[in-house]
Amino acid sequence: MDEEITASEQLTSNGQLRHLLNLKGLDQPWIQEILSQSEHYLRKPGEVPARDDSLAGRTVANLFFEASTRTRASFELAAKRMSADVLNLDVNTSSRIKGESILDTIYTLQAMQADVFVIRDASAGIPALIASKVDPHISVLNAGEADVSHPTQGLLDLLTIRQHKDNFENLVVTIIGDIAHSRVARSASEGLRIMGTRELRLVSPSGLQASPEYYPDAVITEDMNAGLEGADVIMMLRIQRERIKEKTSLMTDHEYRKRYGLTKDRLKLARPDAIVMHPGPMNRDVEISGKVADGPQSVITQQVTNGLAVRMAILAAISSGKSQQ
Ligand code: CP
Repeated sequence: MDEEITASEQLTSNGQLRHLLNLKGLDQPWIQEILSQSEHYLRKPGEVPARDDSLAGRTVANLFFEASTRTRASFELAAKRMSADVLNLDVNTSSRIKGESILDTIYTLQAMQADVFVIRDASAGIPALIASKVDPHISVLNAGEADVSHPTQGLLDLLTIRQHKDNFENLVVTIIGDIAHSRVARSASEGLRIMGTRELRLVSPSGLQASPEYYPDAVITEDMNAGLEGADVIMMLRIQRERIKEKTSLMTDHEYRKRYGLTKDRLKLARPDAIVMHPGPMNRDVEISGKVADGPQSVITQQVTNGLAVRMAILAAISSGKSQQ
């Protein structure tokens, strides 16, 4: 079911965003512009959150058929703060548990005039399949697709890096953890490549390593110290146990922490101004020590804040495309 929709099909003939399924093929100016638009939605802590009417009269359907805290909450808040009608369905509250197909669920909501489908699903190809079937005025936003793609996460990661570093061309970015099952790593890598990042290092234990076909330019290693040496950006990932069938082959948490946990001591191998990222959810004191997660180099809560701003910018971008239809 791996129906690929290309970047040109994600954009209308006017270059407006219609669907966001992956970052592949989007160009650097487009990404820089959406990151700049995202900045407009940021407010300081304690200030009134950004609001506007750009989605007034629109209906955003959040369909989360896999667990989520950050992505689901931020899409819901983004749509509400932009004055949309919002409905939320998940695997427990939809008729999918009675055997209804995902497409029948979509056609049902389309008949109620939903305009935007935000989809998270454990199967690869679902967002593209839906995008290929919905009416022309409808947009599909990928909110996490199996181990394949998580494009708004990729954008919020790029925004966070851009806020801390002068450019991408001089950066060494190291992603550490279960790359094999990570849609976050896939989308980060796609985005970093588009932005011209100097070096991407992928560090994992054997069995959880990146497949080179998805990471053609990356340095792939099991050696955490080598991966950390001189890095500017460190992105930690949890082990995605829900996607691993043979759990007996996994290290214990204790062993994993000893070999691949990011501690204050290990962090010293990176550049002194390195930033530490994590998409969440975190397993504290497994892949990352609590002291590092809460320490001065951590930008993890900033990633969450940026996630809401990026999702508002994406909703605004598809809304401006609709108003030109
Ligand atoms: N980063 C991320 O996708 O988090 P959630 O699973 O909580 O949405």
